[in-house]
Amino acid sequence: MAANEQGARSQYSIECNRLTRKFGSFTAVDNLSLRVRKGELFGFLGPNGAGKTTTINMLTTLIHPTSGSAKVAGFDLATDAAMVRSRIGVVPQSFSLFEELTPIENLWYLGELYEMKKELVAQRTEELLKIVTLYDKKDVQSGTFSGGMKQRLSVAAGLMHQPEILFMDEPTTGLDPQSRIALCELTQRLNQTGITVIYTTHDMDEADKICQRIAIMDHGKLAALGTSAELKSLQGHSHKIRVEFDRLNEQMVDELKKLVGAVSATVDGKSVELRVKRLKPNMVRALSEFADRKSVSVGDLKISEPTLEEVFIGLTKKELRD
Ligand SMILES: Nc1ncnc2c1ncn2[C@@H]1O[C@H](COP(=O)(O)OP(=O)(O)OP(=O)(O)O)[C@@H](O)[C@H]1O
Ligand SMILES: [Mg+2]
Repeated sequence: MAANEQGARSQYSIECNRLTRKFGSFTAVDNLSLRVRKGELFGFLGPNGAGKTTTINMLTTLIHPTSGSAKVAGFDLATDAAMVRSRIGVVPQSFSLFEELTPIENLWYLGELYEMKKELVAQRTEELLKIVTLYDKKDVQSGTFSGGMKQRLSVAAGLMHQPEILFMDEPTTGLDPQSRIALCELTQRLNQTGITVIYTTHDMDEADKICQRIAIMDHGKLAALGTSAELKSLQGHSHKIRVEFDRLNEQMVDELKKLVGAVSATVDGKSVELRVKRLKPNMVRALSEFADRKSVSVGDLKISEPTLEEVFIGLTKKELRD
């Protein structure tokens, strides 16, 4: 089979098989096996030092695996690195373009590096600067840009040679909330055009919002992988009901657990947190009738779903940023 055909045939953008990278005796990525489907917006979540960048560096052919193998865009890292490189774009963790050049000059430089035809460079440059909303800044020195503008320019640079997979390593870290939202929206729009996106982030709400599936890494290993809903279901409950009364005793807690079908309950002063697998209809009315029967009054009542943050802390026993 010709190499080109081989790449096109795979239904996966990435297939890692026991991918491992050691630095001396330290194992930064430990037997990582996972598959990313074509067209996915796939998130890598993990605390500092989990091995996210090391994984990306291997998948983008910057460093060699110590053992294990991986295919990217259907091509083996070990035997077809050039084919892999021709099909991927990278937005690195820190700005790596020329600060003294303008966006136009930076993109032309890349076009020449990739040996693209002049007409194509001109067309891509204009198209991409419009997509990342930097067209009106095309002749301004990149060094004067804000963090968000630099990241958008990095995205344009990563897309210059029309890659089918875009790797983005913590693209929103250090950005203000508005630039963050703009970059997330841009990422989603790009993904909707069919580009597979590998997205690492520390921001769990962001991963929750934009990623179709998420891999949680810790100590170089895969701790969990799934959609946000699948990961949240690992918590064993679908909702938490936190309700405060003016009086609360053990018997009331037992009755409340039965009333709402809770799998567990935690008491905190006059509040109780009940965790249920499924939210019953008319839960609020049932609680208020319960309060009437017991002649107590209900204070605060809050119903919430588990967050990715809770799942993450449950799995890794640590916060993302300490
Ligand atoms: N070139 C290297 N030499 C030695 N150790 C390294 C090297 N590169 C990474 N490491 C170590 O490997 C581990 C994983 O690092 P990596 O940069 O992949 O983590 P990360 O998940 O990207 O973290 P962050 O969220 O901080 O970017 C860390 O303990 C790091 O110190
Ligand atoms: Mg990193």
